[in-house]
Amino acid sequence: MGVVASAPAKIILLGEHFVVYGEPAIVLAIDRRAYATVEYREDKRLCFRSVNLNFAGYFENGIFKIEQGDEREARLKFEPVKLAVEKVLQTYRKNVGLDIEINSTIPVAAGLGSSAAVVTAVTAAVGALLNLKMSKEDVFRITYEAEKVVHGTPSGVDPAISTFGGTLLFQIDTGFKPLEVKMDMPLIIGDTGVERSTRVQVEKVRNIMDNYPRVADPLKKAAREVVLRAIDALKENDLETLGELMNINQALLCGVGVSDESLEWLINAARKAGALGAKLTGAGGGGCMIALATSEKLQQVLEAIMSAGGRPLIARKTDEGVRIERS
Ligand code: MEV
Repeated sequence: MGVVASAPAKIILLGEHFVVYGEPAIVLAIDRRAYATVEYREDKRLCFRSVNLNFAGYFENGIFKIEQGDEREARLKFEPVKLAVEKVLQTYRKNVGLDIEINSTIPVAAGLGSSAAVVTAVTAAVGALLNLKMSKEDVFRITYEAEKVVHGTPSGVDPAISTFGGTLLFQIDTGFKPLEVKMDMPLIIGDTGVERSTRVQVEKVRNIMDNYPRVADPLKKAAREVVLRAIDALKENDLETLGELMNINQALLCGVGVSDESLEWLINAARKAGALGAKLTGAGGGGCMIALATSEKLQQVLEAIMSAGGRPLIARKTDEGVRIERS
């Protein structure tokens, strides 16, 4: 039967990219989850199957062998998962073979943290199967380590929210702090359908930061102020201010080169339909945008995103981080 664990997707409300440079970000877990089922094998192979992507393959002595799907694509997707599993096995001195099945309802390479959610779910499932009594901090640490190897210089915001759930204020040097959000935040996600790589997007921003430090520094400072002001807006249940701050944040993200035509198209459509604010979420360059609207305008904004060619979905926040579904 195997052990099953799951972890949620996320949206970054404010502060992506600038978070990599030590600025704060506000991030929330949403009710789309990645599931992992893990079972022992008789041999020492680490075998992976992704039900939603139709990929399967295994690692033996560090070499990847494809069994189903495109070899390169499958290796790219399974690599961080394999790294996390190996880290668990090394840390707890276990030498076992495992069958790992992944089934995710999160759009891939879209800025919703699908990769971190998958790695988090698998890490927790392996820990539970081996009866390692891993805390959420242990799961986070291992997931973050694996992400670092694959994604270059990630801030850790994605594995943090997938592990702990809820709404977090995240900053590299101080870590994460749960934010209590009482108000209803009607948010619509619009998926452009354009896949992109987080690593490439993070590198684009790095070039701007390196080439124009005196231009980029005030942008970072502005991004910080946007997040700090938004914390007050959240406390005061002030949706309008939050919307305006999202629009300002979008302008800053444009400035560091991570918006694109597909995102701008949906963002403009949402704003024209009456959204209080709209911006890209996650790494940008395609992927998803989010729009904030009053409950009365929600449907209108959703339809506008759809007419503009986006795939809309309502984002419902969840407090539940990683969890064991069946042990
Ligand atoms: C990706 O979901 C968020 C980025 O800020 C990268 C990171 O924080 O690691 C773009």
